[in-house]
Amino acid sequence: MRKLTVLLCGLLLGATAVVAQDRDVIAGIPVNYDESKVGDYRAGLPDPLVFNNGRPVTHARQWAKRRAEIVRIFEENQFGKWPAKKPALRYDVQQDRGLDGTAVRKQITLYFSPDNEGPRVDVLLYLPGDAVGPVPILLNLSFSPNNYVVSDPGVKPGRRWDPKTRTMSEAAPMPGPNPFGMDAIVRKYLAEGFGFATLCYTDITPDFNDGNELGLRGLYHTPGASRALDDWGSISAWAFGVSCLVDYFEKDPAVDAKRIALTGCSRLGKTTIWTGAKETRIKVVMPSCSGEGGAAMSRRNFGETVAHLAEETRFPYQFCPEYAYWGGHVQQMPMDAHMLVSLIAPRPLLLQTGTTDNWSDPKGEWISLVEARKVYQLLGKDVPASDAFPAAEQPIWHTLGYVMHEGGHGVLPQDWDYYLEFMKRYL
Ligand code: GCU
Repeated sequence: MRKLTVLLCGLLLGATAVVAQDRDVIAGIPVNYDESKVGDYRAGLPDPLVFNNGRPVTHARQWAKRRAEIVRIFEENQFGKWPAKKPALRYDVQQDRGLDGTAVRKQITLYFSPDNEGPRVDVLLYLPGDAVGPVPILLNLSFSPNNYVVSDPGVKPGRRWDPKTRTMSEAAPMPGPNPFGMDAIVRKYLAEGFGFATLCYTDITPDFNDGNELGLRGLYHTPGASRALDDWGSISAWAFGVSCLVDYFEKDPAVDAKRIALTGCSRLGKTTIWTGAKETRIKVVMPSCSGEGGAAMSRRNFGETVAHLAEETRFPYQFCPEYAYWGGHVQQMPMDAHMLVSLIAPRPLLLQTGTTDNWSDPKGEWISLVEARKVYQLLGKDVPASDAFPAAEQPIWHTLGYVMHEGGHGVLPQDWDYYLEFMKRYL
């Protein structure tokens, strides 16, 4: 029962409970949890403020050019390239009232093709019931179908993939009342004048190996073609789906599309930070427990490594094929997590982690923030002055911010309060 509770709680709060923590070997690859054996992460560390040709970036006006270089490095070596062209997008919007009539509720279906049965994502958007004019919003990337996120009658049932049949079917309704529904959290955001939107990431493209023929990625896939080294992985596809959704938000007069915050946990934390890097219309970026492949330094050998992520039975499909090569050559990588963090500058970024989430290396996330500070400073933004690793539940409120809850992998109730506070301060 406890296991089930943890799993449900994880799914509903947008986290995942399946974390390979504290085991010595994962997928045949050793895992280090000994601080004395992490190595020197500075060895061979590329500098976000040095151009590929070795010249330094000394003025804020040079940043756009260096930034474009770094984006390309991540496209070619980690996440893969987005399609040059967006698909023809269509929207279907149903509006009524939800949460006992207190909120405006919009259920938006964003179609990625002319086919109503083709790839599409269902977005559930709540707005304060008394809002006049456009409101800033939080967009939550969720592991759960929308009808599992809240217990609000009238929310359309979501869909789930079956990896065996490679088809989607409707998610069965929650048996009985939903004990972990985020209704109270959503209401808090609305009371503060923010909208709250949520979507289930696999609506965009599935989360399993060889899924590149399906969902949004399927629209761009040539049957029988092998993957190019910089072919997009599913993280890039989820991010591209969010970028398409921002196109919708720009057309919705109830949404202040210049003030969108984004969050997601774990692989959706990685997705959150990569979306923020590519889609600069996202104004506040708040990845939760993004870990390896997200905000944690790869050159620091602690917890998960690139080799673990790209191992063929695990998550190679989430990245571009070239990423697997770097699993064996971490010290030579042309990038590291601090450069991913720097791509959010000068926009507000809050890294949320957990004290015992060793697999994701919370300290490695802090170090990437420390190493990315100079980019924020060059652009005139405030950053933490101290290098000291923060204590649990002591948020570091700066444009480049950090908070670590007491606990493991996932989003705890207080994290939603931290996100809200960060949005109030910086959005
Ligand atoms: C695995 C993986 C992590 C990832 C997590 C998740 O634990 O190793 O990198 O963040 O799954 O997304 O659930």
